[in-house]
Amino acid sequence: MTPSPNLRGVDFWNSTMGHAWVSQQAIISDVFASVTRVSLDAAALKTGERAIDIGCGTGDTLFEIAKTVGPSGAVLGVDVSVPMLDLARHRAAEAKLTNTSCALADATSYAFEPRWADLVYSRFGVMFFEDPIKAFTNIRSSMKPSGRLVFVCFRSMQESPWFRVPIEAARPHVPPQPPADPTAPGMFSFAREDRLRGILSESGFRDIVLQATDVPIHGKDIDQSMAFITQAGPLPALLDKASGEQRARAIEAVRSALAEKIGADGNGLHVGLWLVSAATS
Ligand SMILES: C[S@@+](CC[C@H](N)C(=O)[O-])C[C@H]1O[C@@H](n2cnc3c(N)ncnc32)[C@H](O)[C@@H]1O
Repeated sequence: MTPSPNLRGVDFWNSTMGHAWVSQQAIISDVFASVTRVSLDAAALKTGERAIDIGCGTGDTLFEIAKTVGPSGAVLGVDVSVPMLDLARHRAAEAKLTNTSCALADATSYAFEPRWADLVYSRFGVMFFEDPIKAFTNIRSSMKPSGRLVFVCFRSMQESPWFRVPIEAARPHVPPQPPADPTAPGMFSFAREDRLRGILSESGFRDIVLQATDVPIHGKDIDQSMAFITQAGPLPALLDKASGEQRARAIEAVRSALAEKIGADGNGLHVGLWLVSAATS
């Protein structure tokens, strides 16, 4: 991998969190199916186009893109996580996708082929940069002058009951967490509209549209929801500092809170997203 300016992020996605996303891939794929649909609809891919999936992880959206652009098109997935990218490569080989390639690289410093992509896309892979303007400027260099950027990221945790309800249920049972810097690299770092707009505009993008979109989550049932919530998103960091007993109480409280909100079909909560699109200048 080329040198990364995001050492904390690289470490994070190559340790427990990366392995959790690998072991929970099928569940994460199910839970985020609605997000995939909304964001790829917005991407409006056409046969023969070339696309880049930033922070492609284990490959869910990479493969959707590969199928849509077909053999005359191509898709490149870029990610810093060895375990997640290994699974993406394995899945691509199994599906015999010949138009798909993966690069183990940091999107901030990767030497993209200039003016190659019709579309740069991401499902939750762009909020972890230490220097987001540098990263988006580099990403923009990969795009054709006519290229488009489409990604989804989270608004605030307050606006995502899927994450907020478990955190509020667990909090009374675990040691208090110091307040987090809301702009530090992390899943909610693009929550503030003015900040996100500023980053994209200073990176050279124009026609920036941020559409606030609430997407219902479609976990199959409470067990699937618990498997997701206890291993991905903000809850694992909160549970990390807890003793075994505190953790058990917190998990029980989370299960009850989710059971109250989620129907037998797994529906009932949503995530609050920015559906972002922009053009290159
Ligand atoms: C929340 S996960 C989303 C993964 C995938 N897009 C999905 O929706 O299943 C964030 C992903 O971004 C990747 N990532 C984080 N920082 C990155 C960077 N600087 N360059 C490339 N990928 C990065 C992580 O390794 C991880 O796979």
